[in-house]
Amino acid sequence: MTARIPFVSISEHRITRYSRSILINAIKLERTAKAQPIEQGASPAPVPPMFSRYQAHIISGLKSAVPCFSPSANGDDSSNELYRMMAYHMGWMDASGQVMESSATQGKALRPTLCMFACDSLGGDCSRAVPAASALELIHNFSLVHDDIQDGDVERRHQPTVWYLWGEPMALTVGNALRAAADASPLRLTEQGVPTTKALRASQILTEGCLSMIQGQCMDLSFEGRLDIGPADYLDMVSKKTGALIRCGTEMGALIGCNDTASTVLYASAGAHLGIAFQVRDDVLGIWGDSEVTGKASGNDIRRRKKSFPIVYAMETASGAARQRLLEAYGKDTPEEEDVEDVLTVLDDVGAESYAHQMAVDQGELASGELRKIPVEPWAQAEFDDLVQFLTARQH
Ligand code: IPE
Ligand code: IPE
Ligand code: MG
Ligand code: MG
Repeated sequence: MTARIPFVSISEHRITRYSRSILINAIKLERTAKAQPIEQGASPAPVPPMFSRYQAHIISGLKSAVPCFSPSANGDDSSNELYRMMAYHMGWMDASGQVMESSATQGKALRPTLCMFACDSLGGDCSRAVPAASALELIHNFSLVHDDIQDGDVERRHQPTVWYLWGEPMALTVGNALRAAADASPLRLTEQGVPTTKALRASQILTEGCLSMIQGQCMDLSFEGRLDIGPADYLDMVSKKTGALIRCGTEMGALIGCNDTASTVLYASAGAHLGIAFQVRDDVLGIWGDSEVTGKASGNDIRRRKKSFPIVYAMETASGAARQRLLEAYGKDTPEEEDVEDVLTVLDDVGAESYAHQMAVDQGELASGELRKIPVEPWAQAEFDDLVQFLTARQH
């Protein structure tokens, strides 16, 4: 028997020890039944050292951006329910408010890492970029809390999602608070010695990136009910929903790290390509990933009729009965499990996984190519190339 995490109604969201243990068992059972490691295309590459190099800076920036995240927070703040839910989403506390040490429940911090790296690679003092990097990570986390509501997902980073535990209205407040906490970044940048004009420009980049991400989310949702989405629509949508924030990271880092406009523009373009590569890989993991490793469910993109890259490719490529079957499954309001199985068969038949892998590799090469036009230090070009390898083959 296949155990599936059920979609639940809003009235069922109260967290109790009992419901939480049922959920965790359901997640474990689903993993046993469905775990299927990706076999084609990508061989895992090592995690580049940039992630550990900037980690302490980023965590300290995040903790000072939100009062109760700081170790010096007073008792009133840390017992505040809103802050507890925020810290839960960030992976620093469990649902009952106990401090957690595990990195499994924390994000990869890709966007702030890129921001610090871009600054560093141009000879800048990367500690000055910390307020911009942490603001970006907060905006990213706001997007994830709301995204899980929008996508109906019950697991992220190996734990139940905020809306699943506390309900959609509470999760909306958690996302909004994470978003609001990013607003202090211009002031904090000037306190780090960043000139006011650059701090204001960074703030503008963040606002534009955030709006673009939200527009991309809106497109992603409206594409669910459409069968006429082609590759150009897909690229437009992911450039916004994912590319915009990744681009923000490289652009703000370059802005703070140098005074050369051409380098900043090229770094922005590198981030945009990297963002597309990153989302294409996320799409592959969303279908064929091992949820034990990704910490989020596989298959839900199909259940929700998402126009992820493999699906868009299959809709363009499949013909005859296979194409009919794909359109029929995606034409239903709620695809059944047998529809999901048929869609997987069509994807296999057209080689969608390896085609998607190649697409991610191509976009990653475009990103590396942009970096080669910038006078970065040699260690930085090599490390960026390693990052591209890692991101296009990542398993989580
Ligand atoms: C997940 O982003 C959402 C996408 C844009 C694909 P990440 O994979 O960077 O999420 P975390 O922060 O590491 O969990
Ligand atoms: C996430 O896209 C993009 C944003 C949150 C802005 P997805 O919905 O594809 O990402 P996951 O797979 O849930 O992390
Ligand atoms: Mg999602
Ligand atoms: Mg989504």
